This record gives sequence, structure tokens and C-alpha cells, in this order.
Amino acid sequence: MASGEDGSCSQLSSDIQPGDRGSFRCLLCGINVPNRPSLSDHLCGRRHTRMCEEREKRQQQQERSVFVSGFPKGTTEEQLKDVFQPISSIRNIVMDKDRGLYAIVEFESSDGVNAALEVQDIKLEGQRLRVKPREKKEFKKKRTGSRNLQPPDPEALSKELMHCKDVEEQMKSVVTLCSPSHHESHLRELLLSLLRESFTEFFPGCQLHPFGSSVNGFEISGCDLDLYLELSESEELKLESVKDVSLKEDIDDMQNEDVKGEKLLCLEMKEVQKDDMDTEENNSDDDENIVPGLSLKGLSNEEILNLVERVLRQCVPGVHGVQTVPSARRPVIRFQHKVSGLRGDITLNNRLALRNSLFLRFCSDLDPRVSQLVYTVRYWARVNELAGNPLGGGPLLNNYALTLLIIFFLQSRSPLIIPSLRQLKEMAGEEATLVIDGWDCTFPSDPTQIQPSKNEKSLGCLLSEFFTFYSTMDLHSSIFCLRDGGIITLPFTSPPPSWAEGFRLSPFNVQDPFELGHNVCSNVSTKTARRFISQCIIAARTCCSPVYRLRSLSRPWGIIPLLLPNTSEGSKKEGIEISIPLTGTSLEVLILAVKRVLIEVLLCSCVEEGSENTEGGIGKIERSGDEGEQAMSHMEALNIGDDKPELKAEELNEIEVKSIKESCGRKRESVEENQNENKRRKIEDTNDNAIVIKEMTIPEQNVPKKGQKAKKIKQLAKENTTLMRINVWHQVWEGRRRQRRSKFGEITKKIELETAVSHALSSETVDSKPCKPLMQITVKTELTKEGNAQLHLTPEVDDYHCSTNFLHFLKVFLPQMVHEILNSHS
Ligand code: UTP
Repeated sequence: MASGEDGSCSQLSSDIQPGDRGSFRCLLCGINVPNRPSLSDHLCGRRHTRMCEEREKRQQQQERSVFVSGFPKGTTEEQLKDVFQPISSIRNIVMDKDRGLYAIVEFESSDGVNAALEVQDIKLEGQRLRVKPREKKEFKKKRTGSRNLQPPDPEALSKELMHCKDVEEQMKSVVTLCSPSHHESHLRELLLSLLRESFTEFFPGCQLHPFGSSVNGFEISGCDLDLYLELSESEELKLESVKDVSLKEDIDDMQNEDVKGEKLLCLEMKEVQKDDMDTEENNSDDDENIVPGLSLKGLSNEEILNLVERVLRQCVPGVHGVQTVPSARRPVIRFQHKVSGLRGDITLNNRLALRNSLFLRFCSDLDPRVSQLVYTVRYWARVNELAGNPLGGGPLLNNYALTLLIIFFLQSRSPLIIPSLRQLKEMAGEEATLVIDGWDCTFPSDPTQIQPSKNEKSLGCLLSEFFTFYSTMDLHSSIFCLRDGGIITLPFTSPPPSWAEGFRLSPFNVQDPFELGHNVCSNVSTKTARRFISQCIIAARTCCSPVYRLRSLSRPWGIIPLLLPNTSEGSKKEGIEISIPLTGTSLEVLILAVKRVLIEVLLCSCVEEGSENTEGGIGKIERSGDEGEQAMSHMEALNIGDDKPELKAEELNEIEVKSIKESCGRKRESVEENQNENKRRKIEDTNDNAIVIKEMTIPEQNVPKKGQKAKKIKQLAKENTTLMRINVWHQVWEGRRRQRRSKFGEITKKIELETAVSHALSSETVDSKPCKPLMQITVKTELTKEGNAQLHLTPEVDDYHCSTNFLHFLKVFLPQMVHEILNSHS
């Protein structure tokens, strides 16, 4: 440790700065400590030690290395190594990846530096290299990278939405939480001004227009800055070279802000620009300067694009990662702004994009529900990986296409919420007529001209309708056409419309509202199109379930399950384990008690069960002779299937049906799509004509014939492991205390009381008639060496994200109730 760094010595190292009231600041690590003992701890701690070591390492590296420039573009590390290795042994070479204009050559020892500096004429491919000693830079704590500009992740968003009062408020909150902060918006403006200033230096009279989410009303934190640079052919490049551009003062002017945070932001920008200006690469004088006095006249689009790229690369401080994508439908130059992390795209000749962005803005201004719907659907599409190709291109929907789908849906409401473009054109009047590249882009300029929609449906209802609307679509044979607000069915009737020739049909077809020959989904793959439909089906079901409407403080509700990644498709959730001592009974009897709790008391249903090492099926619980007999009598005692004791094992599931029917008569159970051809379906009418459908997964060969029944019973319980698959239909784990209190005194038997509590809770949602279980869990039971029943409960399907709460509840409730059942019959 350096002298004076232990914090106890009176003399402090230059890294430590005394602060107010006995505090200190470690400049090296960038942290404050309140007093001297804390300082001692910090100086001896891992973080400070690591920083000291890192600084030491960097200093040594600097002393061992030289700054090299002047080599041809595209030079490799290997080529440089060949040049410098004969001078002194090389440890490492770091190339400037962005521009390929300079390199740091590190030798094994500082002697190498002296040797390299002494050599007069170091050449590579005939070009003389410039070799300079490294600049002594103060070692600073690394910037933690660019600002973290992005909307909240699903978990953080869910946390916020839990506290809303209803779905409406949740959807409005999504807009607020995902929109850029005031600081971010200001940063975007600053960057835009900086780019405008820079381009005007070179292309006087040019205009830089933002389009896309920056102007369409659906901006989210961290979204790209889409820019369209409008140049006129006659423009001439300004006569100065790149080096003469000084934007620093312009930025300084922009900093006349008195808001503290904004000032900070400006300072950061300034700092980065300064950094850029001061870096070693900028000290080298071999940047390829833009030829002065060059006119754009006669240049091809590609050449103009390259020129714009070079201006962006060389003249805009703080910008890096500049890359042209000439193959895109509209060739684009991508870039990133270092300090903010903001990404941007610059296109040329893109008036149509500007116009369609204004159209989206117009729609969003027409009715406040539009943007609330768009933000929620965009978030849903993002977490389900349906939209938002991060690097452009790709097989997913782009956000523009997704937004058009929402607009189309709103055009198809009755009464409509957004008129079709044909109707809007009629409302616009002659003077608003606008044609771009031959396409009619007319719509009224003022949304307040349009009569407000008579459709007053709530946001929650519209969201649900959106998913239902698309879940029934045949994407392959439809073109969604916003101009007419209708669907064109494929194949085209003859003669096809004039725009059809250029229209690229794909698995998903959405016609651009203005450029009619453009399918905005032409990039979408069959897989994405299929997934879009299946996710709409899942989302539509969620919107029909009680979790959508019923607010809860303990499980995701409302739109939250839609905005969390789907667990049934991806990662499975963690399960829990519950250990229940057998206390004198057999494992089979205990399992039956568990089933009674789940099915009778908690209104779940059993989809299938079996021993773990055989395929599922009701004839698969196996027991040996005596144990079997014993278990049978227990089953009678447990009230499970008491009218036909000899059929118990085989007809367990039928008994369950009965038990479900009796205990939750109004409930409709439907088990989802099942491919197993050997399945049997038993349909029974219930009291109120709802239907109980019980799927019994019985492979034909496993269905016991009459003579096999006794044999089957004898075989029961040979296995020590059983598996049940349980569907959970009602949110019975929440609000029990309240219901218990209201029933207290009325019912004295605990099992009956708890069953009544579940019924009361389920009847709170009875009108919703769940068509899909809230979740599916497997319950695997095994006998431990210690003689306990070990239950492993694992969520298999958890689309509504409530399994954690349910399993948490079961951890206490299940053993208590099992004991209750066993004790009441012992
Ligand atoms: P995006 O799909 O990026 O939409 O298209 P966005 O609203 O800006 O969303 P972010 O940036 O992903 O958050 C950007 C713009 O590009 C034009 C539209 O003007 C759109 O607003 N565009 C995109 C088209 O004109 N046609 C297309 O097929 C795609």
C-alpha cells in the first residue's frame, strides 16, 4: 500500500481529498466515505486495491508502448507486427477499430519504446509511419458506459403496474413509464441540433428532419433517432476541411440551461466532444479530409451517401460506430452517440417516411386511446419477440408495421375510432392535397377538424378486442389495407389493382397507407406470422380470464401477465418442495388426501396421473396386495369414491369429475387441445347446463378390462413415486382470511369451512367462466428414507404468472389440510 494510504497516517495520498465534516473522497474510485475508519476500510478493501493495481498496470503499459499512425487503411496487426518486431520484442498491438487510422504498439519492455523512437524511417508498404510516445493520461475510473436509455424491463414495469387501480390506469402508466424522460428528450434535441449544425457546415441549405417515433407520438426511451437529410442537388460542400470545424462553441451556446440535470447533461456532451477532440487519434494529422469545393451535382445516390457518412464520421463530435447499409430498401447510415448511447439512422430522399410519421401523429392526436393502445401492444410484442428487429431487417414485424395493424384495428371498430384514409382525404379538402413520389398522401392537417369517435369503449376492452380480432385472422390470404379500412382477400380478383404489381406478398401483408405498392411486412417470416397469431390467441384468453379484471396485490393482474415473458414457451419457473410426515399412514393414503385438498377443497382438477417412470394414465398407480387393501379402506374413509369401492383405482378420474361437479357445479372445465388419439372424453351436464369435459388420458392398452380389475388393484402402489398434473382454475389463495371470517361460526368443520371459502372465492369470478386454467402444476410425490412424503410441485404452464403465489400458499395450507383429513379419519 502506498504511504499515507492506510487512512490512519496524517498525510493523505493525492487520491484522497478531505471533505466536509470529517468525510473523504477517493478520487481514484470516485466514492465518498464519512470518516477516517471508513477510509481505512476502503483503502484496504478489494475495490481500491484493484483500482491501484489497474492504474499501475496501465502506467506500465503506457511506458512500454508507442502511438503509431500514417499507415494505409486496412492495415492489419500482423503487418504492424512484422514492422516493429525486428526493432524490439512485441507484447501486444491494439488497432483503432472504428477508423483503422492508428494503433498502439506495446513492447515487452520500455527499452522497445526508446528503440522505436530512435529509428528514423519506419515504413509500411512504402508509407512512412509516424511513431510517437504515448501521452501521459491521468488514470480515471472508467465511465460506466453510455446512459442506460431504455424502457423499464418487464419485472420493473410489472412492479409499477401492480399499484394501479384498473387496467385503464395500467395502460396509461405504460405510456408514462416507457416514454423518454425530460432529460432524454433534451438530449435528443441537443443531438439533433449538433447534427444540424454539422451538416449545414457542409451542405448549406440542407434540412435534417426527424421522423419515426421521434415525431409520431409513440416515442419510447432509448428508441432510435430516425433522420431524413434533405439535400438539394446544387448544394456545394463548404470549402473548409474537416479539421476547421469547431462545433464546440455551438454546443457551449446550447448549454444556457439553468435546470441542474440538464446542465449536467450538456456538460457530459461537452466533455465527450472535448475528449474526442483531444484524443491521440485527433492529434494525428492523417485523417482523410473531405475534398474542399466538391459539388453534389452529378453524384450518384451512393456517392452522396458516402459523403454524408464521412461528414458524420469525421465531423460530428461524440459520434461513433458510423456504418452505411446501402442494401436496405432505403439506404441508411447508422451511428451512435457515445455519451448518451442514442442510436440514429440517417436516410436521404425519404419524404414518404416523414409523411407517414405525421399520419401516425395525426392518429395519435385524434383519440388519446390510440397511443395508450400502441404503447401497450408494442411492449407486448417486444417481450414476445414479435416486433422490433433491433438491427433493422430481420424476420420480425417492425414497429411501424405493428402500429399500422393497431390503426387498422381501430378503423374496423363499429363505430369506428379512426377513419380510413379514403374518408380522411374526403374530409381534408382540396388545399390539403399532397402527392409524394406519385402516391397520394392527403389527410387533414388538423385532427381537431375530425368529429370525435362515438365509440366509447374502454381501453381494457379495446386491448382485449385487438387480440381477439387478430387471433382469428387468416394472415396468408389477407392484405390489411388502411386506405380503405378493409381486408383484401387473396388471391386478387382479376384484374388486380394497379399497385399489386410491385406488392411483395409474404406470410403477413400490410399495405402502406400511402405507398400502396409497399408491403410493410414483406420481411416477416412464416414463423413470426404464426407466432403472432398464437400469441394473440394466448393474449385474448388472458384478457378473458379473471386475472385481467380482478385487481390483486399479490399476483400479476390486468395487463401485467401480457407484458411478462411467456413461461409456457420459455424458461420454466422454479417449483417448491413440501415434506409431510406419514405419521402411521401409507404413502397412497397421503396422496389421496393431497388430492382431496387440491380437488375438493381448492377446486383444482386433475388432468392425469401416474407413476413417474411410466406414461401417464389413470390405471398407473400401482400398489401391492396388502397395502392395496389397506389403502382401499382408507380411501373409503377419506370419502373418495365411496359408492363403488371395487372400481376405485380405475375410476379415480371419474370420481374426480363427480367431485368437481359436486363441489364446483358451475365451473366449466375444458382441457386444451389434445393430440392423443386414445383419449376418452366424458361429457356431463351440470346443474346449470355448463359442461364438464374430463379428458382421461388412457392409452387404450392401459384401459382395464373387467377381469383385470382385481389384478390391477393388486398391482397398485408398487412404485414409490407418483405424479399428478393439476389444473388450477380459481384464485383461491387470496382473500381466504376475509371469507373465513365471514363464514366463521356458520361451519365448524375445518375441511368444510375451507371448501366453502374456496367456493365463495370462485363465485367472485363465476361470470367469467374460465376457459383456460390459471396454471398447470405437476405434483410429484415420493417416499423419503426418513418415512416422509416428499412433494415436488412444479409449475408447467403459468401464463398468468401466479404460480409463485399459489405454491407459496400451498406450502403452509397443504400440510395443514392433509393432517386435518388424516386425523379426522384416524
Ligand atoms: P420503425 O419501425 O423504426 O418505427 O420505423 P418507429 O415508430 O420509429 O419505432 P422505433 O424507432 O422502433 O421505436 C421508423 C419509421 O420508418 C418509416 C416510418 O416512417 C416509420 O415511422 N418506415 C418504416 C416506412 O416508411 N416504411 C416501413 O416499411 C418501415
